[in-house]
Amino acid sequence: MVRGTLRIRRAEARDLPALMNIERASFAPEIQESEETFADRLNAFPGGALILEAGSEGNRNDREDCRRAGNCSNGSNGGNGGCRRSGEPVGYLTAEIWDKAPPPSAEGYRLGHRASERHNPEGRVLYISSFAVLPEARGGTGRAFFCEALDLLCAENPKIDRVVFIVHEQWRAARHIYEGCGFQYTGVLPSFFKDGDAGSDALIMEKKR
Ligand SMILES: CC(C)(COP(=O)(O)OP(=O)(O)OC[C@H]1O[C@@H](n2cnc3c(N)ncnc32)[C@H](O)[C@@H]1OP(=O)(O)O)[C@@H](O)C(=O)NCCC(=O)NCCS
Repeated sequence: MVRGTLRIRRAEARDLPALMNIERASFAPEIQESEETFADRLNAFPGGALILEAGSEGNRNDREDCRRAGNCSNGSNGGNGGCRRSGEPVGYLTAEIWDKAPPPSAEGYRLGHRASERHNPEGRVLYISSFAVLPEARGGTGRAFFCEALDLLCAENPKIDRVVFIVHEQWRAARHIYEGCGFQYTGVLPSFFKDGDAGSDALIMEKKR
């Protein structure tokens, strides 16, 4: 549970190490995307990359608990959200704008595709390419971040009339958030994620704005 305030801001090139830290802490190695992919996203659509950062109101008791538990050495990193240094990135959401949603194919939603080849600021479909929160900052964080980020991106890009993304069949917390926000399942990409022996399905989720 993150205590204290959280703030959303644009990601910048200097955030790439923090983005990759969140990426590696949140996804299995076979699913993680590369720093080049994130750099291309930031470059193609700077407005579509958002950082969630820890605020300055970290609770002193939480910091003490964290230090006592040995989760952080100096009270400025590690541990729970309340123990994080103000301004430290604890989550990200990246997005692109597409002309239209692709047919439900693995190529259409390929991980690691170049945003610069698909992003069109005049398009009508907001594609959420990734979204994650550091494990120690989870619990009452992701849903609020996702909703605010989506509201922000749609308000800034009023042509958007549809939001689309894929989710791993086993990412229960994420699916719970998306279902609660009114997203519908509109397709399945069998064995899309190359994890485990047989791989895992990706579920396509969509919502009209
Ligand atoms: C998805 C993620 C950002 C959520 O962050 P979070 O801070 O835990 O989110 P919240 O606590 O605000 O919301 C999670 C919701 O899922 C629920 N939940 C958690 N685990 C669950 C599970 N195994 N099954 C069903 N629901 C679950 C929580 O109870 C909560 O629901 P509520 O708000 O109705 O109580 C975080 O888990 C994460 O980064 N996961 C790894 C990356 C990922 O899956 N990204 C999604 C890419 S599509």
